[in-house]
Amino acid sequence: MITVRGIEMAYDDAGSGPAIVLLHGYPFDRSMWREQIDFLSAHGYRVVAPDLRGFSEMSEKLQFVADADRAPERQAEAYRTITTMADMARDVAALMDMLTIDHAAVCGLSMGGYVAFEFVHLFPTRVKALVLAGTRSPADNEQERQARFQQVQRMLAEGMNGIAEATLPKLLAPGTLAQKPEVVARVREMILRADPQGAAAAQRGMAERRDYSDDLPGINVPTLVIVGRDDPIRPVADAEFMHDRIRDSRLEIIEDAAHMTNMEQPEVFNAALLRLVQFSTK
Ligand code: MLT
Repeated sequence: MITVRGIEMAYDDAGSGPAIVLLHGYPFDRSMWREQIDFLSAHGYRVVAPDLRGFSEMSEKLQFVADADRAPERQAEAYRTITTMADMARDVAALMDMLTIDHAAVCGLSMGGYVAFEFVHLFPTRVKALVLAGTRSPADNEQERQARFQQVQRMLAEGMNGIAEATLPKLLAPGTLAQKPEVVARVREMILRADPQGAAAAQRGMAERRDYSDDLPGINVPTLVIVGRDDPIRPVADAEFMHDRIRDSRLEIIEDAAHMTNMEQPEVFNAALLRLVQFSTK
């Protein structure tokens, strides 16, 4: 645990060498990166994976929002209202400062990808390489925003159980659901232990996020775009859209995987990530 911008932030920091920062999706936590942390730290990299604002261990300790211009007495309440993707990106930069990491390869999955977009926009010189997994650049349309607000109502009223059962069949490919019960259990447990208040704030933040599409031609670091062949949440077309617009990008379509590519097919995901960082972080 470390205090970062007024919150307690839990994180993993394993290995030594060029730094790689892993940003989890919604409503998950850093434990989704276990296979990547073990693999990359054994291959000569320093791997840092935080629990993003509002998720897992740190959510119970949240007392403040990042925006310094909000009155202190309103901070706690305001946090519960919204956590923007930029809030999370600034948290990550502050964590890197505290760990004396100047720059890193930044890898985000889904919501973590939105945070990575904000990070590379806010701190371009701190990014040596980028991984955009199971994510997309356009903002939400009105229907998608409304669906997020409905989910917020539901999880604040009923907790995470309904969300877990409703989303598992979309997060994981049929083969994963049938043949990898330990992956299914890990994903379910991550969702169930998420704090509904923290998840709600992030969900509102995702609803408010801007369209990152205009940023794509300006991304000038080696970039790996990863997508699961069977991802119904962020399908292959979303990945192709980003790959077509990021000059120095490679597209990796992972077979027999849906949204949680790094957990469903860790060997393929790790090999692609290693190729990118070997090339770009020396
Ligand atoms: C995620 O996995 O992080 C979410 O599906 C992202 C989103 O809801 O847009």
